[in-house]
Amino acid sequence: MAFPQTRMRRLRRSPVLRDMLAETSLSPKDLVAPLFVRQGADAPQPVPSLPGVVQHTTESLVKEARRLQGLGVPAIMLFGVPETKDAQGSQAWAREGVVQVALRALRHELGDDMVVMADLCLDEYTDHGHCGLVRADGRVDNDTTLELYARVALAQADAGAHVVAPSGMMDGQVAAIRAALDGGGHDEVAVLAYAAKFASALYGPFRDAVDVTIAGGGDRRGYQQDYRNRREALREVALDVAEGADMVMVKPAVTYLDVVAAVRQAVDVPLAAYHVSGEYAMVKAAAANGWVDGPAVAVEQLVAVKRAGADMVLTYFAGEVAEILAA
Ligand code: PBG
Repeated sequence: MAFPQTRMRRLRRSPVLRDMLAETSLSPKDLVAPLFVRQGADAPQPVPSLPGVVQHTTESLVKEARRLQGLGVPAIMLFGVPETKDAQGSQAWAREGVVQVALRALRHELGDDMVVMADLCLDEYTDHGHCGLVRADGRVDNDTTLELYARVALAQADAGAHVVAPSGMMDGQVAAIRAALDGGGHDEVAVLAYAAKFASALYGPFRDAVDVTIAGGGDRRGYQQDYRNRREALREVALDVAEGADMVMVKPAVTYLDVVAAVRQAVDVPLAAYHVSGEYAMVKAAAANGWVDGPAVAVEQLVAVKRAGADMVLTYFAGEVAEILAA
């Protein structure tokens, strides 16, 4: 009797055979590029903890979006860095707020050539750095925050966002935003809910990118999810879908592949996963030391996120990986 009886290696003989049989594909169209725009900047500002990422001016933002679109990346997720912050985060919904100005410029240049998504939260705009209104007792108040999210949703939709993406993890935020959009004549604007967003230590570099420090050394564990819980993520997702989310997201991505896979099983709406700043920075730092092959690890991680069941991946590698995939 021949031994071994089953030869798995027959199908690994050549690149073309392996490509033909690959179960998972990664293409630029699977990627969403998070981009930062800074109010009052006269030149793009590098973010030291995110090598290759900058805080854009409106002009450089529009150029970068056009470049990404040329590479086949279909969408961007926009974050703003305002010049002034206050307790409510009022620049988040100001007509001349940094994101609203940028959204109008993007839509003017790109029309419908690209899907323009806007992160919908208050933390970049509040002087205390929390994602909602802070009460006298120091806790973030859920329901008054929802009223502010509704204002932000309308401002972003009025400015031309195709998709708004609430990331604050307040209860009922999707329903409040959907109602505001519909009431404001924006029934075509879609909601991508950061449904299962964990209180993660991997957001550190992002907070550098948006100049956010949480007051008093605080954290977001009172509203973001505990990373020890997977079933709870499924409840969050189910609630957001019931409230009208068109698409849902798991965040972070690589550290939460089990959650991505479970959500994929549980719902049929499009599923995104966010390869977050810390996940990106770790690859960049190891690559800079010559310890890993950065582009190869990046592609491997993004493929893993798709293999787990995500339809799209938000990643700071979008441009770099789109270039690799095109080569
Ligand atoms: C909140 C928000 C955060 C990220 C995206 N939206 C930060 C946070 O929750 O503290 C993190 C993204 C990343 O780390 O890449 N507006």
